[in-house]
Amino acid sequence: MDLTLSDEHRQLRELARRFTDEHIVPHAIRWDREEAIDRELVPRLGEVGFLGLGIDGSHGGSGGDNLAYCLVLEEVARGDSAVRGIISVSLGLVAKSIAGHGTEEQKQRWLPGLTSGRAVGCFALTEPGTGSDAGSLVTRATRTGDGWVLNGRKVFITNGTWADVALVFARTGGPGPKGISAFLVPTTAEGFTATEIKGKLGMRGQATAEITLDDVHVDEDALLSEEGFKLAMGALDKGRMSVAAGCVGAARGALEAALRYAKEREQFGKPIAGFQLVQELLADMAVETEAARLLTWRVADLADRGHPFGTEASMAKLYASEAAVKVANNAIQVFGGYGYIDEYPVGKYLRDARVTTLYEGTSQIQKLLIGRALTGINAFA
Ligand code: CAA
Repeated sequence: MDLTLSDEHRQLRELARRFTDEHIVPHAIRWDREEAIDRELVPRLGEVGFLGLGIDGSHGGSGGDNLAYCLVLEEVARGDSAVRGIISVSLGLVAKSIAGHGTEEQKQRWLPGLTSGRAVGCFALTEPGTGSDAGSLVTRATRTGDGWVLNGRKVFITNGTWADVALVFARTGGPGPKGISAFLVPTTAEGFTATEIKGKLGMRGQATAEITLDDVHVDEDALLSEEGFKLAMGALDKGRMSVAAGCVGAARGALEAALRYAKEREQFGKPIAGFQLVQELLADMAVETEAARLLTWRVADLADRGHPFGTEASMAKLYASEAAVKVANNAIQVFGGYGYIDEYPVGKYLRDARVTTLYEGTSQIQKLLIGRALTGINAFA
């Protein structure tokens, strides 16, 4: 579906396709097995501008609109969702929050590194006791004479052990969402520890970590916003669009692999693509993928035209993440026994997709956000 793409969009998508085929696809299975993406990939992503999308050139960004961002993420996720996640977090959640809310000094300090891939960012919101109920987090930031001291624990933090800067949400006031501020914490600060969580079902190439903040002192200028919860929710609205775009890419990758295989694989004297029940699997996969893409592009279009898009982002994230799981599962059905071993990529598509119905707000949270927008009744109250 190309209807609304400009020449610039098409060129960028072509660049992302070539980059993915050259630098991601050949390594994705190895990264998954070794539970580590080659770190040199990050500056390469920076060189082609994929870590600066949507950020102003004066801060090292490569510009472009939300649709451009979605196109790149779709292509990258077709190769490896774990790489897509690095971009979604370091650029989407961290760099864009700094660009949107930071002082000029904060932008100068962090954005050139993040957009070039010389530095990586992580988004430290979730805690062992607060996942869906992010507004109840207990990490605390206390004022000192010349800054703040932070104490607490964060968990499931994408890029956690790779990050140079952590966007940490910590309580500076009373209970509930209003008492939360956002801080830019250098990960070299004394008392900051990140420990990698190994053995994940999917997204295994990513450095997911548990973070401990033990009397971490930061300067006054580490404070990014006193309205930390609103900043987090705003970042997650765009984050959900980016997860949806990644899910479209993963679904497309699974569909393309299944199509290739179905045309090659012969049973009963003909390619299995000739069987109606296999065609049904493929047709369902294609429809799910297209529908997910349309919902995702709708969010990008609303955002690019300056309209509210939070509910639509929840819809796109809900639909696309569930679709990616279904499509990857169908792809395994097409591959039969070969889909169950990691010589072929379809098992990885399923494992990687599985987390997308959980993180950046579970499918249930997305439904309640959509339900709240429809009814005006708040299920979380
Ligand atoms: N943009 C701006 N402000 C927003 C907002 C948004 N999208 N959503 C809410 N707010 C504001 C509200 O207007 C409200 O402000 P006022 O009181 O001034 O009106 C304030 O924030 C509190 O909002 P809620 O009452 O909605 O707060 P809540 O506690 O009821 O929130 C929730 C409920 C929506 C379920 C929220 O907690 C939520 O989204 N939970 C899911 C958490 C999540 O997605 N975590 C992802 C972790 S990060 C991750 O996965 C990254 C990674 O590493 C991959």
